[in-house]
Amino acid sequence: MHIQFSQSRPQGARLIAHVVDKGKLPAATNAAMRAGAEAARFKGTAGQTFDGFVETDGGVARLALAGAGDKNDEARLANLEKAGAALAGKYQSTGDKQLVLDLSESDLTAIEAAHVLLGLRLRNWRYDIYRTKLKDEQKITLESVTVVGAPEGIEGAWAHAAALAEGVEFTRELVTEPANVIYPESFVARCMERFEDTGAELIVLDEAQMEEMGMGSLLGVGQGSTRESRILAIRWNGGGSEAPVAFVGKGVTFDTGGISIKPGPGMEDMKWDMGGAGAVAGGMLALVKRKAKANVVGVMGLVENMPDGNAQRPGDVVKSMNGQTIEILNTDAEGRLVLADALHWTQEEFQPSRVVDFATLTGAIIISLGNEYAGLFSNDDQLSKELSEAGEAVGDKVWRMPLGKAYDKLIDSPIADMKNIGGKGAGSITAAQFLQRFIADDTPWAHIDIAGMAWSDKPGRTWGKGATGYGVRLIDRLIADTAEG
Ligand code: BES
Ligand code: MN
Ligand code: ZN
Repeated sequence: MHIQFSQSRPQGARLIAHVVDKGKLPAATNAAMRAGAEAARFKGTAGQTFDGFVETDGGVARLALAGAGDKNDEARLANLEKAGAALAGKYQSTGDKQLVLDLSESDLTAIEAAHVLLGLRLRNWRYDIYRTKLKDEQKITLESVTVVGAPEGIEGAWAHAAALAEGVEFTRELVTEPANVIYPESFVARCMERFEDTGAELIVLDEAQMEEMGMGSLLGVGQGSTRESRILAIRWNGGGSEAPVAFVGKGVTFDTGGISIKPGPGMEDMKWDMGGAGAVAGGMLALVKRKAKANVVGVMGLVENMPDGNAQRPGDVVKSMNGQTIEILNTDAEGRLVLADALHWTQEEFQPSRVVDFATLTGAIIISLGNEYAGLFSNDDQLSKELSEAGEAVGDKVWRMPLGKAYDKLIDSPIADMKNIGGKGAGSITAAQFLQRFIADDTPWAHIDIAGMAWSDKPGRTWGKGATGYGVRLIDRLIADTAEG
């Protein structure tokens, strides 16, 4: 979506929108519209919309009102995003190509106005490349927003928000693509394209290199697939000489469960089992595009989990890069196996100051937290607090869950150092305990289980049905708040 700023309203504008604080209709509305708004009980609460037609410059234009709620609401920025998103949701398929956002009567700051635009752009995103038979009225027609009367400083504020939007959209694209299109090698290729000429450094490990390093845990998962496994690292050095912050993502490009195969209904959802890697790729893109003043590395463990004559079996014992042995009791508990080697390699290779991993790791976290909060597991109170605050600020919310020795014991194995599943209870926690066995004691680490967050069955705050882009804004905010200046 194209966003531009203009001094005056473009000639012949047919769709003109105003952001309305609760109880304050703009002067541009006429008596009929004011009566209509009252009759429709339009009050300007966040995300509420109302429209009517007015005569302007010799023509007739649709005047759209988007509610932004109470000016003093502590969720002001989120409410402004809702207002922008509501406009996109309502007018994206009306046939109007251009929306004029008239801010000349509003007293929004540049940052506030940028949030309206962010909501508009994010909610307008949809991935229709495979829908070749859409009728005209089903297509997204809204292409551009012209902002009139924007506050001073809008260009800078929007540049930051636009980088964020690019990151979120890239994550959504990766997550939405089917698994015959996005598999480990093509995931890498798409990142290569996207990061070309950005100043980021991309490092790729192929199977021979991972074999050499002893990554038996990750490689075992990909063993049944004809698609080769990969590790991708994206490095951004925008800071001084300090150690980087590392983000690590689970990138299972399709999870059939392997020999412990999943039931058929709903299995198609497992195309988005690379949502953690998608969040890391998009988060890195946002940071790189806005030239973040920090050192950051994003590492993605990319594999496909398939049943096959060569697939790993329940009962197999594999060895991870750091020499620990793992008894595979369920080949569907594969994400932790991928992350084990990816996490260890990340610590060895980059000596990060902190490690945060994102993974669609367990169905159990959806039982615990539904689709409102991702599960946060951490060995560090400070990092937990920073992530919780960042998440609250941008809407990518996390809820801390416990870790502890008693849970750790549940993954001891009689034949190897550990087994890859616990018992019946606490499935998300035993998964996190497994990961912790691959984290050095003195490395602040957090694991974020996003199984309930990467995909949405219904439209939400700034997304339609489908990939949400969860994690990108959390990554961006954590870096902005804790690693830059
Ligand atoms: N990718 C799944 C977890 C998942 C489930 C993500 C639903 C999104 C929606 C993961 O690899 C998995 O299969 N986990 C198993 C673990 C079990 C075998 C211990 C699960 O959650 O059932
Ligand atoms: Mn699985
Ligand atoms: Zn999985």
